[in-house]
Amino acid sequence: MIINLPDDKIVYKQSANTERFFAEMVKKPFYEHPQTEAWQREVLQSYINRDFQTIRDIVGGGQADFNTLFNGLTPKERVLVYCYYNMQQHVVSQEYIFQKHKDIFDKYIFDPNTKLLFIDFGCGPLTSGIALALHYAKSPENSGQKINFNYIGMDKAESMLDKAREFSLYSGLFHSNTTFNFFNTYARYSPNINEVLCECIDNYISDKTLIVLNFSYLFASPSLNVDKLIRFINNLLNKYLYNEVCLIFQNPQAISLNSNWHLFKNEVLELTTKINGSRSDTFKYFDIYSNRLRETKLFYDILFR
Ligand SMILES: C[S@@+](CC[C@H](N)C(=O)[O-])C[C@H]1O[C@@H](n2cnc3c(N)ncnc32)[C@H](O)[C@@H]1O
Repeated sequence: MIINLPDDKIVYKQSANTERFFAEMVKKPFYEHPQTEAWQREVLQSYINRDFQTIRDIVGGGQADFNTLFNGLTPKERVLVYCYYNMQQHVVSQEYIFQKHKDIFDKYIFDPNTKLLFIDFGCGPLTSGIALALHYAKSPENSGQKINFNYIGMDKAESMLDKAREFSLYSGLFHSNTTFNFFNTYARYSPNINEVLCECIDNYISDKTLIVLNFSYLFASPSLNVDKLIRFINNLLNKYLYNEVCLIFQNPQAISLNSNWHLFKNEVLELTTKINGSRSDTFKYFDIYSNRLRETKLFYDILFR
């Protein structure tokens, strides 16, 4: 829920369902994690000493290679730190976009004839799929019902995909007809990734399918091959010529993190922005773990064909 305080500050308040999800699936496993030497040294001591630089190093500012070890922490442990440290903010900012632009999204979400295919690039631990399910389940327009969608998540880190699979099974969050497909885009494991992906997309396409291309905090990744991505998206737009396509992008505001986004946008000309005015927003949300307000400086866009 977006709350406008009298002094013009915007505060986003998470729902009880969001709080429950994070308490059960992130906070509990984080607090109850076996206290190995590396976990104590790198994670617990860093939090006790408020050494957030080490925490940022563990998650590489969100852009770590989550296939690799970090000072004795396993890829799986790095993902758990990511879920604790970064994921809540990303869920909140995705929900913030859905709510602020409900005039754009609601007519698709609540149209019984529209099928939603949500393709999540750099999906991490299913962050945006969780935000989508949580946001619309609490929507009064939907009287608390779950929405149905087909989800395709891609990531180069198997540890992230494992966490995404685990979260997709979280009881009571997703509509029983929701489908999940996860793909590892790391070339060594998936040489034919584009073919496999297109076959999967084909399974969910009808003329009533809205294809959502979602990019949540991916574009700053140093390993992102923007030229390949541009070719992939332009081919996809050609192939599914008669489908409506929506692209949702979000990232931090720092200019240095968004150069690849501008490059991408200038080469995917069929998609144009739906937003009038600023695409930078600053808002606060109640951090579920500390109960304090945390600030988010969001840069985002919503494009349609
Ligand atoms: C900052 S996290 C964002 C995760 C998720 N979208 C979210 O908002 O929480 C970036 C994710 O992108 C993945 N990633 C980075 N570069 C990638 C690439 N070139 N191809 C696929 N995934 C990539 C990382 O493994 C990581 O899971």
